[in-house]
Amino acid sequence: MESHAVLLATIIMVACIGCSQREEPAKSSSGLADFTVPSMSLGPIMPIAEPVIENPEKITLGKDLFNDRRLSGDGTRSCSFCHDLQNGGDDGRRLPLGIDGQYGYVNTPTVLNASLNFAQFWDGRAQSIEEQITSTVQNPIEMDGDWPSIEQALRADQSMVRRFTKVYGANVSAANVINALATYMGVLLTPNSPFDRYLKGETSALDEDQRSGYELFVRLGCVSCHQGRNIGGNLFQHFGVMGDYFADRGQPSDVDLGRYNVTGREEDRYKFKVPSLRNVAETAPYFHDGSAATLEDAVAVMVEYQLGREADDEQTRLLVAFLSSLSGELEESLR
Ligand code: HEC
Ligand code: HEC
Repeated sequence: MESHAVLLATIIMVACIGCSQREEPAKSSSGLADFTVPSMSLGPIMPIAEPVIENPEKITLGKDLFNDRRLSGDGTRSCSFCHDLQNGGDDGRRLPLGIDGQYGYVNTPTVLNASLNFAQFWDGRAQSIEEQITSTVQNPIEMDGDWPSIEQALRADQSMVRRFTKVYGANVSAANVINALATYMGVLLTPNSPFDRYLKGETSALDEDQRSGYELFVRLGCVSCHQGRNIGGNLFQHFGVMGDYFADRGQPSDVDLGRYNVTGREEDRYKFKVPSLRNVAETAPYFHDGSAATLEDAVAVMVEYQLGREADDEQTRLLVAFLSSLSGELEESLR
């Protein structure tokens, strides 16, 4: 138990160093006034802002490219094939269905608010959205595209050439396609979730169960890993801090090594980017292996393997109620 406490204290310290470096302080902490959690009173979770749309034509271009199957080698896959913005920004599958009937190795995360994450992919191997896009398009399972062919296909389309010329003052190029897509990713934000409204002082935005769930989320220590503006997305942490998740699940594979695959450092074995919990009620199944079919299952695994406690049904119910308050709004014109 003692080592557990020390561990959590360490995580909280590390987490808060992360907060002060990357996050702006919460503007209002009135939502936290209902109960006091000493080390957390500065506001471990911040609301997200409305997207700022500076160049609508570039955004629309990015959106159309996101839905464009010419970005894949065999013309069958667009980004939206796996990232459905009508359904949480992911694909609802345990593992993604790539081209030629092949399955990908890890669960598809949502693109919503992904630009707020400090790194992209479960193992954080892409430092930026631009890097993520380059890698996804060329991934032999996911899109199997190649940039010269993509440039050629889009340049054969007069209306695309006109639009690129208008937005970039230049013809279609890989760099401009990546820029338009990344700009679009940058505005896929979901502000105004009930929880964000609550943080901004609208106390009635959460019902009683959701408020109790939030209190548990802080008190049990979930917030030591899932925090910041994206309620996740700003730390790497072990999956299985308090138990051997992979031995219990069975069939461990290289994919489960997580961050270790990027750094080769022993201490990074089984570490993953802590995922954002925004819109999490919309993105089942869960975890990098897609092993948790429901939010209840995912929460129970977290309580047991990350916190070393036994999940009781009532606590799980309240935590799930809180997590359901994290679904925000995506502006209609961006879908
Ligand atoms: C075949 C399904 C598939 C297609 C098509 C696809 N993705 Fe993904 N996407 C995934 C999977 C799976 C991951 C996670 C990969 C990993 O972590 O190793 C991912 C990860 C991402 C991430 C990182 C999110 C995070 O939190 O780490 C972003 C952003 C993203 N995709 C955007 C795109 C864009 C833009 C396109 C089109 C250029 C695209 N995806 C096409 C399946 C897909
Ligand atoms: C020690 C850090 C840590 C703590 C504490 C923690 N989590 Fe997590 N959480 C993670 C990591 C890492 C993952 C990703 C695991 C994976 O799939 O590899 C995750 C994944 C999740 C997911 C799945 C998200 C998705 O999109 O697949 C949910 C839901 C979740 N956590 C909720 C909670 C709740 C609720 C608590 C408290 C009971 C909690 N977590 C405590 C680190 C933590």
